[in-house]
Amino acid sequence: MRNNQKLNKMEQLKSYFDANKAQFLEELKALVSIPSVSADPAFKEDVARTAEFVREKLVEAGCEKVEICPTAGHPIVYGEKMIDDSLPTILVYGHYDVQPPDPLELWESGPFDPIVKKTALHPEGALFARGACDDKGQMYMHVKAFQGMVKHGQLPCNVKFMIEGEEEVGSENLGTFIKENQEKLSADVCLISDTSMIANDVPSITTGLRGLSYVEVEVTGPNRDLHSGVYGGAVANPINVLSKMIASLQDENNHITIPNFYDDVVVVSAEERKAMNEAPFDLDAYQKDLDIEAVQGEKGYTSLERTSIRPTLDVNGMWGGYIGEGAKTVLPSKAFAKISMRLVPNQDPETITALFVKHFERIAPASVKVKVTPHHGGDPVVTPTDSIEYKAAAKAYEATFGKNPIPQRSGGSIPIVALFEQLLGVKTVLMGFGLNSDAIHSPNEHFGLFNYYKGIETIPYFYKYYAEMKK
Ligand code: BES
Ligand code: MN
Ligand code: MN
Repeated sequence: MRNNQKLNKMEQLKSYFDANKAQFLEELKALVSIPSVSADPAFKEDVARTAEFVREKLVEAGCEKVEICPTAGHPIVYGEKMIDDSLPTILVYGHYDVQPPDPLELWESGPFDPIVKKTALHPEGALFARGACDDKGQMYMHVKAFQGMVKHGQLPCNVKFMIEGEEEVGSENLGTFIKENQEKLSADVCLISDTSMIANDVPSITTGLRGLSYVEVEVTGPNRDLHSGVYGGAVANPINVLSKMIASLQDENNHITIPNFYDDVVVVSAEERKAMNEAPFDLDAYQKDLDIEAVQGEKGYTSLERTSIRPTLDVNGMWGGYIGEGAKTVLPSKAFAKISMRLVPNQDPETITALFVKHFERIAPASVKVKVTPHHGGDPVVTPTDSIEYKAAAKAYEATFGKNPIPQRSGGSIPIVALFEQLLGVKTVLMGFGLNSDAIHSPNEHFGLFNYYKGIETIPYFYKYYAEMKK
């Protein structure tokens, strides 16, 4: 504390956060220790326990009307603190569910045994665990920031928390929950920390998310597995066929070949592309980090553009035939793949899925049968940079990072964001604090302690500036 000088409000908060760093880390460790894998029914109880953990922490932090709302799937945790009708209301959204930890053998420590280790990009340490960054760590920053504001009598807005348990499986029940609770969820803005920033010394605000169309394909050849010598050469091998079909979905320029796929893609202006490419991007470091000799992607676009303004098609998994120890000579009956397409404004997931199904059925040779099963989808999002929420967020980063954040569109998807606008009429501001290199969805996911604490410190500034600017 400075001599004889009273700390101002934000300094008081900062010293509270600093004094509680160890405690906040312990709580996050407890949270990431619970394996809330939403995709796997075996973890249903753990998912429920995680919801209970979040409920308790919201109560402790000073939330009222905290409840666990059951859905047809995993529950949603809701809590609020309404202090004054004349103040703006912030709806904080996050998710407490996580991706499956597979492949387990590639983790250096257990995915649910959190441990702090230093890395090149996180010299002050990072917490390693599934969900550390996506999204438990980032969601929990909001609980702690809120707690600080409540404790110090300086909450400048009303707050509603909606923390769901099905984001990683497509938020299938959240739409219904929102539709049924429009009044309860009414807010002026939605605030989410579930994205990334450029670097710890290059803060950025996410201004776009890609949409998603996700399908699973099944290719069937003969009605049973066959001896690959006796039948091989005379009967279609569904894995060979599927490989060829998938390979044909992109041409030599890595352009997607599905007819009409690009019809609705918004063409980004030359100026906008120029501005986009002024953001710092170190191709060398990118390649080194991934241990690749070269990048690849759609001809005519930079890596930054390929992961933001352009749609993609990727196989996420492919299987069939014999994959056990040693060799088995077999001509398999079936082959499968899971395929995702990332979409950009104004592509519509349902239209794209229909185009995919039609094309995939058309290119299948007569020697096989194909079945396409659509999974979840989601609309793309772009957020303006001249809105009050963007300006308040930018000022908040400026206050704690000492730098004006760079607006940047992200390649990832949070399908529910488009629904917030469609169903609740609220715009979203995406204040992410993770790094792209934090290995979300991968083995050894981690979240920098710098990022965790910086997020907690920055959030109250958003509340403050947003309240001031809304006046
Ligand atoms: N938090 C991510 C999305 C994300 C990550 C956005 C990094 C921007 C930067 C979210 O949890 C996620 O993984 N979303 C899924 C989609 C969902 C339908 C499974 C995705 O993007 O694959
Ligand atoms: Mn997430
Ligand atoms: Mn995720």
